[in-house]
Amino acid sequence: MQKIKIAPSLLAADFGNLQRDVELVNQSEADWHHIDVMDGVFVPNISYGMPVIKAIQKHATKPLDVHLMIVDPDRYIAKFAALGATYLTVHYEACTHLHRTVQAIKAAGMKAGVALNPHTSVQLLENVIQDVDLVCVMSVNPGFGGQSFIPNTFAKVKGLKSLITENGSAALIEVDGGVSSANATDLIAAGADVLVAGSFVFKSEDPKATIKSLKG
Ligand code: DX5
Ligand code: ZN
Repeated sequence: MQKIKIAPSLLAADFGNLQRDVELVNQSEADWHHIDVMDGVFVPNISYGMPVIKAIQKHATKPLDVHLMIVDPDRYIAKFAALGATYLTVHYEACTHLHRTVQAIKAAGMKAGVALNPHTSVQLLENVIQDVDLVCVMSVNPGFGGQSFIPNTFAKVKGLKSLITENGSAALIEVDGGVSSANATDLIAAGADVLVAGSFVFKSEDPKATIKSLKG
């Protein structure tokens, strides 16, 4: 069995020492850099935009996993491709024409992800799951780091795993929000392939050791 992938969320990094924290992820056993983009409209918070992501990209040595919490993400697909994103994830709730958006992300040379808010059923992906490279199950309401994990996520991950298997999809299951050693093992057992962790990694005493411990 493939080892779990860990994607530390730079939202919890020290922005005054961004290069240091990106390099910390480079040197760790983490697999991807998770980059949260918030527009203050889709979610009640603004994180960072293109110039900061460009600076991250300059130092990052692992794939960039970009999570867009923005309305009308189609407008920025070409820009994120130019910034070197490997995965570009849009929210189901922000896309009126999700199938078109997914195809546009792939046509731009990236892997396409779809994120689901805690209230959004995994069954709603039934008709697009074969086209998707990653599904990000939000285990908190998006917008902020450091929130409490919603336990219903375990059932959602199991349901999503069945949907993926039944449809012969190759989509990876990512879980994002409140991930820690308290839920990682159960999430992996439920079918998670990628764990995003912000606060649990960057607020810990030894982030590299914390990443290693999540890898199991
Ligand atoms: C929340 C973001 C998450 C966040 C996770 O809206 O999508 O990626 O940074 O942070 P923690 O791990 O602190 O919940
Ligand atoms: Zn995220």
